[in-house]
Amino acid sequence: MVSEDRRQRFYGRRTGRRLRPARRVLLKDLLPQIELPADRPAPFDPRQLFAEAKDDIWLEIGFGAGEHLLWQAAAHPAVGFIGAEPYVNGVASLLAGIDLQALTNIRVLPDDVRPLLEELAPGCLGRAFILFPDPWPKRRHHERRFISWPHLDRLAALLRPGAELRVATDDPDYLTWILRHLLDHPAFRWTARNRHDWEVRPADWPLTRYESKSIAAGRQPAFLRFERMG
Ligand SMILES: C[S@@+](CC[C@H](N)C(=O)[O-])C[C@H]1O[C@@H](n2cnc3c(N)ncnc32)[C@H](O)[C@@H]1O
Repeated sequence: MVSEDRRQRFYGRRTGRRLRPARRVLLKDLLPQIELPADRPAPFDPRQLFAEAKDDIWLEIGFGAGEHLLWQAAAHPAVGFIGAEPYVNGVASLLAGIDLQALTNIRVLPDDVRPLLEELAPGCLGRAFILFPDPWPKRRHHERRFISWPHLDRLAALLRPGAELRVATDDPDYLTWILRHLLDHPAFRWTARNRHDWEVRPADWPLTRYESKSIAAGRQPAFLRFERMG
């Protein structure tokens, strides 16, 4: 039995190389303007994060350097985005992109997403992205994998009927794990009709640096789309 404490521990890295001065300025000045408030009432309605009304709210879990989140936010200005990422260098990269593109529809949780999943109001999300989650290949580390029954139950509660969950992986073993969990979960339906649907990058699914490296290393990414059933 895994204790609550161990399940909630974050095993990834939070810091990397020393940040350039301009990125440190962004963390000091821009992040406080778009960071989720620390004292969030539960249930938390994410629409209150945006000054103007938004058509929908989409969540990206583990946005890495933020390339995908920036692309989606620029392509969908009427959608409000929440991105969660504990790796400060990744957060700084995202902030640089937000600053450069003058995007106003992204809010950031520079931390582990799991507490937020417990706080968000049921049915508040129209889409969630979990792209290339850490595969934790060793069997004894499988309990660290983000795709798990408790997380899928929580995402099922947050995504409203008809909403989409997108998951990508380049790890064949994790792919099997992800499909086993999602195909067995009563709230989700895999929308792929043939191999093309998960082997070929959809037009609205931009490449990230992580994925470019993966392809260069000869790995085959899978692009998985699931519908939250009503
Ligand atoms: C392999 S990287 C992929 C990054 C990005 N999605 C991409 O495709 O380029 C996985 C990311 O998930 C983040 N991550 C892992 N667990 C997380 C959690 N509980 N909450 C938020 N982010 C998490 C890690 O910090 C890491 O940046």
